Amino acid sequence: MRTNWMSRARSRMRRDENFDFSVYHTYDEITDHMRHIATSYPDIASIMSVAGTYEGRSIMTIKLGKPFSNGTVKPAIWMDGAIHCREWVVPATIIYAVDKLARQYGFDPTVTRILDELDLYLTPVFNADGYVYTWQSDDTRLWRKNRPPQAGPCVGVDMNRNWDSHWAEGGSSHDPCSLLYHGTAPFSEQETRGISSFIWDNRRDIRAYIAFHSYSQVWMAPWGHSYNRPPGDAAAQDALGRLAVETIKSIHGADYVAGRAMETLYQVSGDSQDWTYDKAGIKYSYIVELRDTGRHGFLLPPDQILPTAEEIFPSILTVGEWILEH
Ligand code: ARG
Ligand code: ZN
Repeated sequence: MRTNWMSRARSRMRRDENFDFSVYHTYDEITDHMRHIATSYPDIASIMSVAGTYEGRSIMTIKLGKPFSNGTVKPAIWMDGAIHCREWVVPATIIYAVDKLARQYGFDPTVTRILDELDLYLTPVFNADGYVYTWQSDDTRLWRKNRPPQAGPCVGVDMNRNWDSHWAEGGSSHDPCSLLYHGTAPFSEQETRGISSFIWDNRRDIRAYIAFHSYSQVWMAPWGHSYNRPPGDAAAQDALGRLAVETIKSIHGADYVAGRAMETLYQVSGDSQDWTYDKAGIKYSYIVELRDTGRHGFLLPPDQILPTAEEIFPSILTVGEWILEH
C-alpha cells in the first residue's frame, strides 16, 4: 500500500519535473503542468479561470507575480494563445515560458524584477474545446474555430473575429461555414465574453496584451482592420515591436518582422488585439505569429518547439522590462 503510494507519487513527480518541452502535449497534460507549477511555487503562482467554454471546460489562466507587500494592485501583462486551436506551437511556447518564469524567480535578476513589479497572466489554451478536438484524429488536426453548432450544418466561430471592435468588417465572414466566421454578434461566444470581461475589469492595470498565434513570424501592432497607424501610439508600439524581434533574433537567428497586420499579413477585423487597444485602451497590444514562415505551417515539427519557445521567452522579458521603464 504505502510503497505503491510512494512510487506513484515519485513517478508523478518525475513526470512533472521532467515535463518534456520538446513534444506537443494534450490539453490535460498542459493544465496538469500549470497546476503543478502553481502548487510548487505558491508564493508567486496561482491558477484562475475567467471564462468557460461551450463544452463546459474552464479556460485555465496562471497568474505569476509576487504580490506587493502592501497589497496594492500591480501593473500587469495579459498573454493568451491558441484562440486558434490548430496552432500547437503556441501552447507549447507559453507553458515553457510559465515554467521558466516560475523556476527562475529568485535566480535570474530580470525574471525576479519582472515578477516583483508586475503580474503576468498567461492563458496557454484559450480555445480549450477546439484544442481537445484537434487531438482527436488526423481529420480534426487543422480545426481553427471553437465548437458550438451554428445555424445550418456548420460548427464553430472564429473567436479572433468575434471581438467588439469593428466587428463584421473586412477580413471576417458572415458564412457560418467559413473559417473566418465572426459569429452572430460581437462577443456571442462565452470564451471571448469571459476573457474580454476580465481584461475590461482590469484595463487600468493591464499595460500590455499579447495574443500568440502561428504561423508567419511577425510581431504586429494595431490595427488589424485598417492601414492606419494609430497617431500618438504608433511610434512607441513600433519601438517595442522592433526590440522584441531583435531579442528573438539574438537567440537562434530567426527573422521575425515587426509591423502591422495589413502590411505583413492581411486584413482582420473583430480580433482580440483591436479590441484590447481600441476599447480597453491597452497601448501595447500585439498579435505575434510564431514559427514558421510556411514550410510546415500549423504542422510545425516537434524539433522546432524548443527553439521557438527559447526565442519567445526572452522577448516576453523584453516587453516586461519595457513596461517597467516606460
Ligand atoms: N492569424 C491571425 C488571424 O487570422 C492574424 C491576426 C492579425 N491581426 C492583427 N490585429 N494583427 O486571426
Ligand atoms: Zn491564429
